[in-house]
Amino acid sequence: MDTPFKTRITDLYGIRLPVIASGLMWLADPVYVAAVARAGLIGFMTAASFPDVAALRTGIRRCRELSEGKPFGVNIMIRASRDGTDRVNPLIDAVIEEGVKFVETAGNNPEAYIRRLKDAGIKVLHKVPGVLRYVKKAEALGADAVTVIGYEAGGHPGVEPVGSIVAGVAAARAVKIPVIVAGGLGTGEQLVAALALGAEGVAMGTRFLVSEEIWAHRQYKERLVAAGETDTTLLLQSMRNTQRALKTGHVAMIQQLEQAQPVDTQAILPHIMGTVGRNAYETGEVEKAMLSCGQGVVFADKIEPLAAIVDRIEAEARIAMGRLNTLYRPG
Ligand SMILES: Cc1cc2nc3c(=O)[nH]c(=O)nc-3n(C[C@H](O)[C@H](O)[C@H](O)COP(=O)(O)O)c2cc1C
Repeated sequence: MDTPFKTRITDLYGIRLPVIASGLMWLADPVYVAAVARAGLIGFMTAASFPDVAALRTGIRRCRELSEGKPFGVNIMIRASRDGTDRVNPLIDAVIEEGVKFVETAGNNPEAYIRRLKDAGIKVLHKVPGVLRYVKKAEALGADAVTVIGYEAGGHPGVEPVGSIVAGVAAARAVKIPVIVAGGLGTGEQLVAALALGAEGVAMGTRFLVSEEIWAHRQYKERLVAAGETDTTLLLQSMRNTQRALKTGHVAMIQQLEQAQPVDTQAILPHIMGTVGRNAYETGEVEKAMLSCGQGVVFADKIEPLAAIVDRIEAEARIAMGRLNTLYRPG
């Protein structure tokens, strides 16, 4: 593939730019992930968004049809089940049997599952917060690449607040497998900066939320376009489940509940159920939900086709690279 920015990540996925579109709960569906594929990048469909394994299988087939032969992957959240039911292996059965080639794991340690994926020939990208011991663990477990998330990120940036410019270079120095950095990244300038840090790619979530192929209500996207870098906040630290979300009335109410001593987790749980967020994506009533969103929302300045966003990122990266080339005179 002709690419101006060739790294081990562009080689691994056969993509045009070293940019990946990470899993997005409820939103990274076949239509969005296929749009990412057709734009020359790779996206990961969020397995947890499907009501059951049969629906995931149908989703994988649909994504394959829409992707026109381009690569795509599935995001699998590794989580211990409260009731002892194994929720992860049935998803892994599905991706193996459906011939998926790329998986992004996130959440907990994938040790119990990674062998099965690798034995099936699937390339595994494991995503971790910006803490070196997790990065090294991903490599030790046999991940093909690791994504390290800085605390600017939307979703779960981890319990320790480490920024992406620190996490990226620290991770790249610590392991031999290719590192992808994420968290607050949404522009071509940042892509070039990430490559300078030693990372071989970037992952974006928030930047792509305003793409036309994201099914959520237009009012939600308009809110993101209007938002700036100070319009997100961290919450759920009291449950050691730190989340970065858009500042909304609902989020302020949860933060208020978190002030109680001792924290009443049972009182908080109904407000953070995934279905609350899904309803807001459907209705556009953003104020009534906790919606994952990173500081990079400042770059989400227009609702447009995904391919147009990717073209802008590439153009910005080329200009940034050109600027650096005029600064640097090997001597
Ligand atoms: C709306 C939204 C939903 C997300 N859902 C998931 C998810 O289900 N699984 C996951 O691994 N990461 C999820 N993430 C995190 C992203 O995959 C990615 O790591 C993150 O968005 C990167 O940081 P950025 O938002 O600053 O680009 C979500 C992020 C956002 C913004």
